[in-house]
Amino acid sequence: MNNIAELRHDFPLLTRAVGDQPLIYLDSGATSQKPQCVIDEINDFYSKNNSNVHRGLHSLSESATSKYEQVRDKLAKYLAVSSQEIVWTSGATESLNIIASGITQSLSSNDIILISALEHHANIVPWQQAAQLSGASIHIMPIDKYGVLDLPNALDMITRLKPAVVACTHASNTLGNITDIKRIIGTANQVNATTVIDGTQALMHLRPNLSELKCDFYVGSAHKALGPTGLGFLFGKYDKLNALPVFKTGGEMIDTVSFSKTTYRNAPAKFEPGTPNISGVLGFGAALDYLNAIDIARLKEYEQTLFKYCLSQLQEIPGIIIYGDMQYNIGTISFNYREEHHYDIATLLNSYGVALRSGHHCTQPLISELGIQGTLRVSLAFYNSHADIDTFITALKNSIELIEG
Ligand code: ALA
Repeated sequence: MNNIAELRHDFPLLTRAVGDQPLIYLDSGATSQKPQCVIDEINDFYSKNNSNVHRGLHSLSESATSKYEQVRDKLAKYLAVSSQEIVWTSGATESLNIIASGITQSLSSNDIILISALEHHANIVPWQQAAQLSGASIHIMPIDKYGVLDLPNALDMITRLKPAVVACTHASNTLGNITDIKRIIGTANQVNATTVIDGTQALMHLRPNLSELKCDFYVGSAHKALGPTGLGFLFGKYDKLNALPVFKTGGEMIDTVSFSKTTYRNAPAKFEPGTPNISGVLGFGAALDYLNAIDIARLKEYEQTLFKYCLSQLQEIPGIIIYGDMQYNIGTISFNYREEHHYDIATLLNSYGVALRSGHHCTQPLISELGIQGTLRVSLAFYNSHADIDTFITALKNSIELIEG
């Protein structure tokens, strides 16, 4: 399955229209579209195999349990880690909350939490909570005026400040920057900091190898990698994961319960109370099979070709201002047109069938560091085409003409 340009035919939604215009979907940073096999898998579960997992001895339940656990194995293999190090959550946000709230108990007022200026709110606010509750302080690894992480400064801060925690995105959702987390983790490991990587945007585009990266924690959301919404994962090196306190309590995560005392199971079960998102996990399994069948080098090459093409087309339009790291990028471009409000252009683009995100992209501190109110964001995926970009650029030029009157 290596003709990447053909793969868009597996995505039924990409054939729909918006009003009387064909849809041009450029918002994969918000959520990826789903191939037919993922939709079929979810449908099959409810129409043929619906049953609860880990709770029944009957055939349906045993089959559902086995398929459900196989997906954990698939994700572990995709990330090059062990299955017992994978916890299913409702999304990257919940995963980060489990980690930050768990680590809070081991922090004190002498401790430093180091995060980057590129972070999504989900990798800022839980740390602010942790700091408030523990007395620890938060320091920020800075970006330059273009939005590129200042790596020498970041590495120096890690060495000098010896933080208890280093939390950093693998790829910025707003700018697309791929951060050099290998060096950040390597330096953080030298000072024994706990490393927490938000891999939400990287999961599909970069296929991270966590055995090589050697981080303590890594999180992501299924829906950003062809899977369904409402499902995410938390990877943790087993000892660190198992050492985190329970986050939510209830059935299945317990070992024994009496009216006077409860004991808990070990990770991953101790973080998975209640009936899980079974159909979501199975759908994500189909997504991982689909991604595994694509040669990752060719996927990256194709996405980079699209990215460079889109970038060059945008750069030719007078008045377009582009932010972020153009060299190491997952295929996301944040831009503005002169002083025009991003919202007005996004609304006009929608009337041409172009779906992209505008605003602060849940990164208000980053947008503020860039000295702007927000951006328009094109976030590409391998199921986009050069024709999508041509249509988008024509629509953008038309929108600008309308605005300029
Ligand atoms: N975090 C998602 C985005 O960047 C929703 O759009």
